[in-house]
Parts: sequence; C-alpha cells; structure tokens
Amino acid sequence: MERDSTQVNTAIAASNLAQEVMRRCRVLASFSEDSAGTRRSFLSPPMHEVHREISRWLQPLGVNMRLDAMGNLRAVYPAAVTPAPRLLIGSHLDTVPNAGAYDGILGVMIAIALLEALHGRRLPYAIEVVGFSDEEGIRFGIPFLGSRALVGRIDEELLMATDAAGVCVREAIAQFGRNPDELAGARLASDVCGYLEFHIEQGPALEKLDLPLAVVDAIAGQTRLEVTFVGRANHAGTTPMDSRCDAIAGAAEWIMLVEREANAVTGLVATVGSVRAHPGAANVIAGEAHLSLDIRHHDDATRNRAVKTFVREARQIAANRGLTLRHATHLDQPAVAMDRFLSDQIEAAIQSAGCRPHRMTSGAGHDAMILTEKVPAAMIFLRTPGGISHDPAESVAPADVEKAIACGVHLLDQLASTPAFLTRTLRA
Ligand code: HGY
Ligand code: MN
Ligand code: MN
Repeated sequence: MERDSTQVNTAIAASNLAQEVMRRCRVLASFSEDSAGTRRSFLSPPMHEVHREISRWLQPLGVNMRLDAMGNLRAVYPAAVTPAPRLLIGSHLDTVPNAGAYDGILGVMIAIALLEALHGRRLPYAIEVVGFSDEEGIRFGIPFLGSRALVGRIDEELLMATDAAGVCVREAIAQFGRNPDELAGARLASDVCGYLEFHIEQGPALEKLDLPLAVVDAIAGQTRLEVTFVGRANHAGTTPMDSRCDAIAGAAEWIMLVEREANAVTGLVATVGSVRAHPGAANVIAGEAHLSLDIRHHDDATRNRAVKTFVREARQIAANRGLTLRHATHLDQPAVAMDRFLSDQIEAAIQSAGCRPHRMTSGAGHDAMILTEKVPAAMIFLRTPGGISHDPAESVAPADVEKAIACGVHLLDQLASTPAFLTRTLRA
C-alpha cells in the first residue's frame, strides 16, 4: 500500500530521531573519568559535561530545568492546563567501570526524544525528564543514591558513607556544587502520578524471542554483601603449606561453593564481582581477602535463604582454615512488581507501534524499583544484541530505538485520552 507523503515524512522523522538518540548516547559515553573507556560515577567531574550537553538538547523544548541537591537532572515539560498531574520519564546517567554507552543513558535520551516528538504539543499532564546521578552504586557501594533522594530515603548515615578516597557523600555533593542541606527539595512533588523508564534489557531474552520491546512485569530483588576473610600475612617462600592462614585460599574455596550452590537453585544468580587482597604482593601470603557478593532472585524468600546459606558456609570455611570472617550488607532490595495499569497501557502502545508485546521480569535492578515506593512505576525494555551489557560491546539497534519512540508517543497519547490515568489518586 502506497504511504502518503505525511506518513513517509513521519517515518523519516522517526528514523532521524532514533539516529539522534544513538548519537547522543555515544557523545555522552565520551565523558569519562578514564582516558580510555567509559566510567562515570556519582557526581564525578565528567557528570558536569553530561549535564551541560543534555541541557543544550533540552533548551529548545521550553522545559524548566534544574539540578537537584543529589545531582539529579530534572526538566519539566509543562502541561496544557494547570493544575495537572505530572508523569516522570527517566533513568540514570552514571555508569559502571568500562561501561557500554546505553545502560541508563538511553532511557534519558528516549525521554527527551519523546518531548521532541511532541513538536511543542502540550498534554493534559506535565512530563518531568529525570537523569539520576547514581544508580550503579560504584563510588560509595550503595546503589540508587539519585532515586532514593526523590523518595526521601537519604539519611545522615548514608550521607556519611565514604568512598575509596575517604570522601563522604555529603562532601561529594558539596564538591559538585550542590547543597546537601537542600535534599528535601529533591523529593517528588505531590502532583507526580507515575514513573516510566525505558531501558535496555541487558540480557538475552528478547533476542532469543526475536522481539524488539517488552513490558517489565517485575524486578528481581537483590542483596549486595561485602565479605572479608582474615588470615595471617606471611612469607610465601618460608611458610610451610600446613601452617598457613591464607585468606585468598579460603576466599577461593568459598567462591567455588557459591557458584556450585547458585547453579543448583532455579532462577538464582550469585556473583563475586570484585576480589581485593591485602597486602596483594606476589611473595606474601594474603592476610585479607575482600570480596563483593551480589545475589538476585525474583522470589525474596529464595534470595534470603541463599544469603543465609552463603554466609554460613563462609563462616564454616573460615573456621576450618583458622581464618576469621567479617561481612556487611550494602543492599537488601526486595523484588517489586511494576504498576499493572501502566504496564497494560504500555502493552497496548507496543501493539500500536506494530510489535508483538511480551512481559518479562528484570534480573537487573533499576531506579523504577525505588520510585515504585511512592508512585506507580513501569518499564519498557529494548532488545540487547548478544545480551551483552556492563561492557563496551553493549549495543542497541536503531530500529528498536525507533520502535521504542513510536511506542512512547502512542503511550503519551493514550494516557492523555485515558481519564482513569488523569484522575488517578495515586500520587507521590
Ligand atoms: O546491577 C544492576 O542490576 C544495574 O545495572 N544497576
Ligand atoms: Mn547497570
Ligand atoms: Mn541501568
């Protein structure tokens, strides 16, 4: 069937917008704490460049822009009427070390593209684009610092947490040019009626199903532990094998046990992502081994059982080897369900964008799991080629970005003509 010129122009405009979103993600990936590769942690210097660049892209859209006290970028696209509810659309702007270009950032760029796709049209609700300052938790070992500020979960204990250089969160905020005493101003306004997050799936499911988009029905719970085996440093050349208290050997035995036991539980994932030895010299038996452990499952009871088992086994291995054990919990985040109403709306919008909808649980954590404490939250996944993420090989297909934008535009129009959304009393 011949497409009329409007349809052709619309299709070209949508393709251009998707290409521009990809270009912007690559531009932001160049703002890094490292000379090679992308690493951008909470309120690190390159975050200033990210904010400057995004502000340039937002400037023509008639939004009210600000940086809140937690360093979250906030841009409100006003409604056609006042008073009106406000819908948040966003994701995070920080990255893991040696990151890809799309985890988090793509969701903020798609949010901006949706405003551009409105071409100045105002809706019966406002849209607030949010770029969170920290979701990964790399700098302070505590994730979701940005979104916690919106739901009021920043307390003095958290503000006193320190990074590897001994700088605390409170100081990091001040060094970035924000005022930690103004954190109350970061909290969600009472007119906020929902939160949407576009995000790459970061796994293999959608590629296996050959689908571009999915609705996220739930986000798996996660526990993040720091575990330290303490032995006795000694000379590698003169200490007989039967009289050692080798912290790394004990840690290694435990790491293999964690892998074996996680393999035996359906749906459980357990990862020792970092291992740091002290003193860390080739000719010294390690006195200490510091490990991280990340445990996830969609069922909280299963996850919590696994945490208890792994800690108990660590204690047993330490006792068998004459070591001692220390451990601390940095995160105990329950699994959350996404908002049913918004998810149904997303599913309809995915169909309107010409795609077969699919619902799935997210193994990755997202800011939506924090926002859902205060407002209805929902997520749209985009296919991740090769299922690779948290790595420079992370990618997304421009055609899938184009479909996500089309889905987003349909979604905004659907919500604008759905009284049930506009009159929903679920507010922050
Ligand atoms: O680790 C995660 O689940 C997310 O990428 N922060
Ligand atoms: Mn991530
Ligand atoms: Mn992410």
